[in-house]
Amino acid sequence: MTGVLPDPPPIPDPRPGAHPAISMAGVSKRFSLSRRQSITAVEDIDLAVAHGEFVAVIGPSGCGKSTILRMLAGLETPTSGTVELNGASPAELVAAHRLGVAFQEHALLPWLSAWDNIALPFRVMGAKPDAERITSLIRLVGLSGFERARPKQLSGGMRQRIAIARALALEPDLLLLDEPFGALDAVTRRRMNLELQDIWAEQSITSVLVTHSVDEAIFLADRIIVLTERPGRIKIIEDVPFGRPRRRELMSAADFHSLADELTLAIDSGEPSPSEAGA
Ligand SMILES: Nc1ncnc2c1ncn2[C@@H]1O[C@H](COP(=O)(O)OP(=O)(O)OP(=O)(O)O)[C@@H](O)[C@H]1O
Ligand SMILES: [Mg+2]
Repeated sequence: MTGVLPDPPPIPDPRPGAHPAISMAGVSKRFSLSRRQSITAVEDIDLAVAHGEFVAVIGPSGCGKSTILRMLAGLETPTSGTVELNGASPAELVAAHRLGVAFQEHALLPWLSAWDNIALPFRVMGAKPDAERITSLIRLVGLSGFERARPKQLSGGMRQRIAIARALALEPDLLLLDEPFGALDAVTRRRMNLELQDIWAEQSITSVLVTHSVDEAIFLADRIIVLTERPGRIKIIEDVPFGRPRRRELMSAADFHSLADELTLAIDSGEPSPSEAGA
């Protein structure tokens, strides 16, 4: 970073290692649908994520993956349990501009160019955009030459790549990614996986990735959380045994495939939790 940013507001005890990067304890989330009906989206989530760790969350559609990310981003509050990010509340991390998010609905501002969308986090915090960083992020996501294009002049995949670049703009402490590569073709998706792995290795940003792709989860993550069907509970936590840097050939290796088969089976046999009452 080139010194254009004002000091962020202090957050409690920011020493790395003083607290886990993420701590979820007994977290459940219930949504009311009407006065008499509610559903439990996730239940009893206990999870600690270390600084610099990359965790992927996989599970059947509707099992509460996005709900977990939204609670980490401070967009939903748990019905019970606690969520702490480096010992602070999600709201405190958001206020300190230390959280980067790229969600399913990427919410680019349609009247701003690609460049200005990526520059937005700087402006939101009242700082001068770091032109060098923005240019390098644009290069990273393969959009050089499209700096001045508006979102509607770009493909869905290109828009998603802008959202990822924007999430990385401020070198966040915590990166939350909800299906960020969902709209990409297989070739671009693999390229993004490979390239983003390099930045993550360099910057060790604690990251939580929600994905429907078991291969992507294995390729990118240090640990994979498999959720049950709704209400989502943690069914399996799997350590990914492959060293880094990971190269494309890993995806053709026999032990990669056997881990992928095991995790796919775990998702497919994701029975609903026994306590699904009142849904
Ligand atoms: N604001 C809300 N109000 C009511 N119900 C909600 C709300 N947000 C999510 N839900 C419900 O919570 C459950 C979990 O939703 P969530 O979006 O977290 O699932 P998901 O695992 O991300 O699914 P997908 O893989 O399809 O994206 C769903 O049944 C959904 O209908
Ligand atoms: Mg979702």
